[in-house]
Amino acid sequence: MGDLTGKTALVTGASRGIGRSIAARLAADGALVAVHYGSNEAAAKDTLAAIRRDGGQAFAVRAELGVDADLDALFAGLADGLAGRPLDILVNNAAITSYAATIDKATQRDYDEAFAVNVRAPLFITQRALPLIRDGGRIINVSSGVTWLATPEIVYAMTKGALNVFSRSLAQSQGARGITVNTVSPGITETDMNTWLTEDAEAARRVAEITALGRHGQPVDIADAVAFFASDDARWVTGQTLEVNGGLFLGPPVKR
Ligand SMILES: NC(=O)c1ccc[n+]([C@@H]2O[C@H](COP(=O)([O-])OP(=O)(O)OC[C@H]3O[C@@H](n4cnc5c(N)ncnc54)[C@H](OP(=O)(O)O)[C@@H]3O)[C@@H](O)[C@H]2O)c1
Repeated sequence: MGDLTGKTALVTGASRGIGRSIAARLAADGALVAVHYGSNEAAAKDTLAAIRRDGGQAFAVRAELGVDADLDALFAGLADGLAGRPLDILVNNAAITSYAATIDKATQRDYDEAFAVNVRAPLFITQRALPLIRDGGRIINVSSGVTWLATPEIVYAMTKGALNVFSRSLAQSQGARGITVNTVSPGITETDMNTWLTEDAEAARRVAEITALGRHGQPVDIADAVAFFASDDARWVTGQTLEVNGGLFLGPPVKR
């Protein structure tokens, strides 16, 4: 596993968190990586610098998702960076969550924003990317364990449920071109989306207690699973969802 030499990849939301780790791993495996970000240019530059320091190749693409003209900005930047090369790997990773968007408090605006970034953007990015993707390419969507584990953030969970359905339909339709489509579904992972994990030791301990492997996830834990789906080793796997969560809620909490 791991030889992506000569391949290209687009990773959305690669300036921070899980996306940054995915971009770093795909670049370490040899791919030229488009590091997409929305507004945090400094973070995107850090991602690029880390990739280049390790001998990898990457370029940044800025596009705020969920707004008009987002796709035009994204695909103009991608075309510049690829300079005529096709795309091999698309990772739809960027997403937003709102802890306030519960059944009691969610507003229509929360709903529209979440669906625009987490569902509409991956669908139309994929639609626009497909003509650029070589036959035999890879699409990996980053979903969430909230699709099977009920949490109060109902709007976010609904967006990820939609993404799972999207993945499955897409896998079926793109099979004829040999393009695989799989979903990586992280559990509770230490990123800016979950600052409470580092700010609240007791909360982190409770997460460890409900996780068979006894800790919360790190972005690299997720990136390594994405790298599998991007690799030739995963050529016979499509339409699948892999829960990458250290054994979250496998059974009653284990005292350690
Ligand atoms: N962390 C977890 O515990 C966890 C668990 C399950 C699933 N996930 C999923 O894993 C993926 C990555 O999450 P994460 O925790 O790494 O998130 P994160 O640390 O908050 O990073 C989010 C990334 O997405 C980009 N982004 C967000 N909104 C955007 C927008 N409107 N337009 C363009 N870019 C935008 C951000 O760009 P900027 O830097 O420019 O803002 C950033 O690169 C998401 O799909 C998330 O739902 C995470």
